[in-house]
Amino acid sequence: MRTVRIFDTTLRDGEQMPGVSLPVNYKIQIAKQLDKLGVDVIEAGYPAVSKGEFEAVREISNLGLKADVCGLARVFKDDIDVAIKADVDMVHVFVPTSDIQVKHTIMKSREEIIKIATECIDYVKSHGLKCLFSAMDATRTDVNFLKQIFMAAEQAKADAINVPDTVGVATPFKFYELIKDLKSSIKLPIDVHCHNDFGLAVANSYAAVLAGADEVQVTVNGIGERAGNADLSQVVMILHSLEGIKTNIKTEYLFETSKLVERLTGVKMPPNTPIIGENAFSHESGIHAHGVLKESSTFEPGIVTPEMVGHKRKIVIGKHAGRYQIKKMLEDAGYVLSDDAIDRIFEKVKDLGDKGKKITDRDLFTLAEVVLGEVKHEEKAIKVEEVTVITGNRITPTAVINALVNGERKVTSAIGVGPVDASLKAVTALVGEAMKIREFRLDAITGGSDAIAEVYVTVEDNEGRLFTSRGASQDIVMASIDAVINAINYLLLRRRK
Ligand code: KIV
Ligand code: ZN
Repeated sequence: MRTVRIFDTTLRDGEQMPGVSLPVNYKIQIAKQLDKLGVDVIEAGYPAVSKGEFEAVREISNLGLKADVCGLARVFKDDIDVAIKADVDMVHVFVPTSDIQVKHTIMKSREEIIKIATECIDYVKSHGLKCLFSAMDATRTDVNFLKQIFMAAEQAKADAINVPDTVGVATPFKFYELIKDLKSSIKLPIDVHCHNDFGLAVANSYAAVLAGADEVQVTVNGIGERAGNADLSQVVMILHSLEGIKTNIKTEYLFETSKLVERLTGVKMPPNTPIIGENAFSHESGIHAHGVLKESSTFEPGIVTPEMVGHKRKIVIGKHAGRYQIKKMLEDAGYVLSDDAIDRIFEKVKDLGDKGKKITDRDLFTLAEVVLGEVKHEEKAIKVEEVTVITGNRITPTAVINALVNGERKVTSAIGVGPVDASLKAVTALVGEAMKIREFRLDAITGGSDAIAEVYVTVEDNEGRLFTSRGASQDIVMASIDAVINAINYLLLRRRK
């Protein structure tokens, strides 16, 4: 079976996304995760860009990762020297080749460009390092010149050549033809690097692989310059599931990798993002949910499952929900309900949905308890008695929580990147490793600085059960704590019952 290599550039092109800047410790965390995921190459950065970037690349190079660590360099010896000093395994040397870029940036003749490029490849190789050579803006470059410079790179003993669709103007059929054509004249492994300006980065990468490309450059969550780069999860799963082409990616870590990058970059994925989006395996409509609850492949592709990518299937309750789905969710949670009670809950769910309300698991259980006449004094495994949070520009946000946990007093404290993060860490510390916050969303319901904040969370217990809940308050810290405590209380009580 054919294996395609995955070259990850999250820490280089991904970080070039406007508004994203990763401190060294974040880059190290991401690099370790990429290595665990099984990428073949980690482009850790562009060492000549700054002192911090150099340090990050050097530290990543010295982590002892399985993946090759690569640093980017222009066709300048100074750039290459900095990459070499950063202890990389591979230098990615690039030069613009399209007429438009040559005219406005490098301003040299084609002969001179070939000469500089081959000298730089030579220089990298003379230091015993691997060299990837990129002809920047390849898809807008005269194809004869492109072949000429790639052949020169081959002669200079580059290890692979890269065909970047720098401004995302390639289309799958044309890109397929280009890669096929290059494949017939170049013996070196061919790598592709696609940008998403027209939403075609993944399709173009896929077409390139079908045409014989050996390696694909991707970023986690498709982050990158402008509209981003080809998305790692999508490229990998298309190859695995639709084409039976292997990569070295351990797909079960795709979801957690995406979440880590989402958290550390602050770039949130829309819920309908393929493979790793919150809704990628969620079902609300009655017909779909009914089908999926009986046999998941009725309304999912089947050849990619949530388990394969480390995700979870979710049945969401809303106005499209069916009776069967409501009954099944409540029965799974241990409620014993007559058909009449189910009908009444079903009507209430529809009514709330029509009013535009998002219905969490906790809302559904509360509705069931109201219908069953059970909701008098809510039993609580955790009762929060006191919350102290300090934050400011000169102190690390810290939270202390004093609570009764199953009747026993417990005081926990935690620091975080902000007061909400610190508080939620202190809350989850009340129950040790038993609960993880999988999803956190904050909405302001009213305007102004006194707005009511509504927080939606999904909490997962250590048996993989997911539970959605909400909290609302004018204080976002308290709304967040309420939402998480509500979910934890329900999960603990359901388990006890
Ligand atoms: O988009 C591009 O052309 C690049 C090169 C440096 C490969 O990122
Ligand atoms: Zn790029």
